[in-house]
Amino acid sequence: MNERNGRKRILSGIQPTGNAHIGNYLGAIRHWVASQGEYESLFPIVDLHAITVPKDPKQLRAHIRETAGILYAAGIDPEQSTLFIQSHVSAHAELAWILNCFIPMGWMERMTQFKDKAGAARERVSVGLFDYPALMAADILIYDADLVPVGDDQRQHLEMTRDLAQRINSMFGKTLVVPEASIPPVGARIMGLDDPTSKMSKSETGQGHAIDLLDSPDEIRAKIRRAATDSSRVIEFDESRPGVNNLLVIYEAFTERTREDIEAHFDGKGYADLKRELSEVVIEGLRPLQERYREIRKEPGYLDAMLKEGADKVRPIADRTLRRVMDKVGLG
Ligand code: AMP
Ligand code: TRP
Repeated sequence: MNERNGRKRILSGIQPTGNAHIGNYLGAIRHWVASQGEYESLFPIVDLHAITVPKDPKQLRAHIRETAGILYAAGIDPEQSTLFIQSHVSAHAELAWILNCFIPMGWMERMTQFKDKAGAARERVSVGLFDYPALMAADILIYDADLVPVGDDQRQHLEMTRDLAQRINSMFGKTLVVPEASIPPVGARIMGLDDPTSKMSKSETGQGHAIDLLDSPDEIRAKIRRAATDSSRVIEFDESRPGVNNLLVIYEAFTERTREDIEAHFDGKGYADLKRELSEVVIEGLRPLQERYREIRKEPGYLDAMLKEGADKVRPIADRTLRRVMDKVGLG
């Protein structure tokens, strides 16, 4: 693990919020799986990020295991990738504090995700929610990650991470690797089925908003059947018709067929056909994951053992970077 063997390192995190959905899968997880042979791959389950909004402690702990199970079931291979719990590696939080002291308030105030999440409750949400991007920057910079594969919603956080690494490098000389975002061309922004103008989100709990990765076939069919469309009948990729467009993008991402091919396939068919076919594509696309998830959950202790091993592997890397930054800054 200390030896990269010339391979680039990728890092990406996922929050253990308990209802991972097809947006997470299509925008992030499946790309992690596809690239793990090529890159050294580190995937923290970011529990410290999860507590930026109120969480039931028992549920949080259960959701951490559920998320780990989903990632392994999706094809994250413990031989090739390292999955671990963020809070098991204390250097993340320590580096986040130091980074905090080099992030201008103005940069943080521009973060649109905070504005969206806080909304009208701005005075009541936690300071942690505001500071969330500093911890995310620490997750990335502490491993000298080269590439960060994420969905489109993380673009701005990644830009800030790059700006911050450059700022620290210009203040103290070369200290941190400036990472690149890797955002997929298809599926980087899956929208809510009930409201295709807002992104599919774990915090949106409305029935029919998201297709969760562990949803049963009947739940998937019912959600897609109720998905918002429009009064036109033409089945075409067209961003000005977000409902139909979103269904087609999901179809495209699961089947990996070209847009021309998909439009030709649905030519002359109706929305009911599109929804029926899409349901089967999603059900089949998730079936292997769901089967493996059930297998993994039958083995008590497996996940905890793997997560502990993961944290033990990455801790020395994180500690080294923290030490390097502390030295440069003049701490201790
Ligand atoms: P989160 O669940 O917020 O921790 O997100 C985990 C990963 O899924 C991140 O890389 C996100 O950018 C990605 N992601 C979250 N929601 C979506 C979405 N609706 N479409 C595509 N990617 C998403
Ligand atoms: N903020 C990311 C999200 O909500 C999760 C995350 C935390 C992350 N740390 C990260 C993603 C580091 C990439 C790299 O989706």
